[in-house]
Amino acid sequence: MSALVVVGVQWGDEGKGKIVHYLGRSADCIARYQGGNNAGHTVVFGGREFALHLIPSGILLPKKKCVIGNGVVVSPRAFFEEIRLLERRGVRIQGRLWLSRNAHVILPYHVYLDALREERGRGIGTTRKGIGPCYEDKVARLGIRVCDFLKPEVFRALVLQNLRVRRAELASTAVPLSKIRDEVFKDYPRLRRFMDPYAADTSRLLNEALDRKRRLLFESAQGAMLDLDYGTYPFVTSSNPVAGGVCTGSGIGPTRISRVLGVAKAYTTRVGLGPFPTELDGAVSHYIREKGHEYGTTTGRPRRIGWLDLVQLRQAIRVGGVTQLALTKLDTLAGIHPLKVCVAYRLRGRRIVDFPEGRRDQFDVEPVYETLSGFSGDLSRARRFMDLPLAARDYVAWIERRLRLPVAIVSVGRSEEKTILRRAVWPRRA
Ligand code: IMP
Repeated sequence: MSALVVVGVQWGDEGKGKIVHYLGRSADCIARYQGGNNAGHTVVFGGREFALHLIPSGILLPKKKCVIGNGVVVSPRAFFEEIRLLERRGVRIQGRLWLSRNAHVILPYHVYLDALREERGRGIGTTRKGIGPCYEDKVARLGIRVCDFLKPEVFRALVLQNLRVRRAELASTAVPLSKIRDEVFKDYPRLRRFMDPYAADTSRLLNEALDRKRRLLFESAQGAMLDLDYGTYPFVTSSNPVAGGVCTGSGIGPTRISRVLGVAKAYTTRVGLGPFPTELDGAVSHYIREKGHEYGTTTGRPRRIGWLDLVQLRQAIRVGGVTQLALTKLDTLAGIHPLKVCVAYRLRGRRIVDFPEGRRDQFDVEPVYETLSGFSGDLSRARRFMDLPLAARDYVAWIERRLRLPVAIVSVGRSEEKTILRRAVWPRRA
């Protein structure tokens, strides 16, 4: 029995899609447990680029089974469109994908509410996919789950009830309530018929797979610093990307998780608003953004860029129980001399080594840097760790020492072969 969790340990966009795809080859099943179509996982496979938002990245690996767990919020339209798009590009989905009947559905009014808040002064720079309002309904016990969506009478009654509850807030959108209601029911029969064969008791499927000694890989969306509980609140997403979220978001118990691989870029990026202690502007950030194509997969927004931050990473490692790391985009740093890494913060004259909780403090901290030698050349050709320039190897070894965690994987490019495996990530098959 082995369950491996792959989590982002920064603010999302760490390159999890590629790592999941790489490790997914040795998995039997790949599952998502939180988030929705706010995610953007770019995978280069067979020379072609795929941007996945809702469906697990493992779907690109023929024969692997994929699960969308109960902790995910699912837009029926996004589900339909993403599957159709993948099928048009030759990916076979039927019989390989299961969707939890307990997952909550995102409906058009969630998207309107998300946009409304972004535009009316309460914005945090969301992806505007309706994620926050859908999770709000879940917590408020107003949510509509896949099992409800599949029953026309139940669905209709719940939608009408929710529109009544949300009427006052929705009245401030430019779109009349009647039009929003029509949008919710537009195409409903088709979307329902489409979703029906995928719906399943996914907790049972996952547990039975573990009982049969199958390998499960859990794929987080976003990252630890966007976690609702441990991130830079309130500039966070509305779910728990940290590994603890796997249990509630998929229906397997904590005793069944064997390892947690944290994925970090060799530097830091963030999209959306909120504190970012090591953020850079000027030539270095421009260089990294262009060389590393640092533009959001879901929204196309330019990502904010900063140096690697060990204070932030230590927090993410601690709350996620991370057992090993994958360091991505090391190749992007080539050509920058020297490199800096944040090892502590200074807060109102005091040196601190823990990420502060207070929202004001998170904005006010100043990074304390150590300077390391930069490296040059085309790292993307390296296939073994020894192929990397000495200073690049030193950078990785220094991070390992400081974080007291092994860097099991180093990624030096987008495609799969540009991956250096330094030590086994999966536990041995029993
Ligand atoms: P939401 O998840 O759309 O509600 O957005 C909340 C915050 O999470 C915003 O700062 C978004 O930019 C950020 N966010 C959501 N999904 C991703 C992602 O996949 N990568 C990076 N940031 C994300």
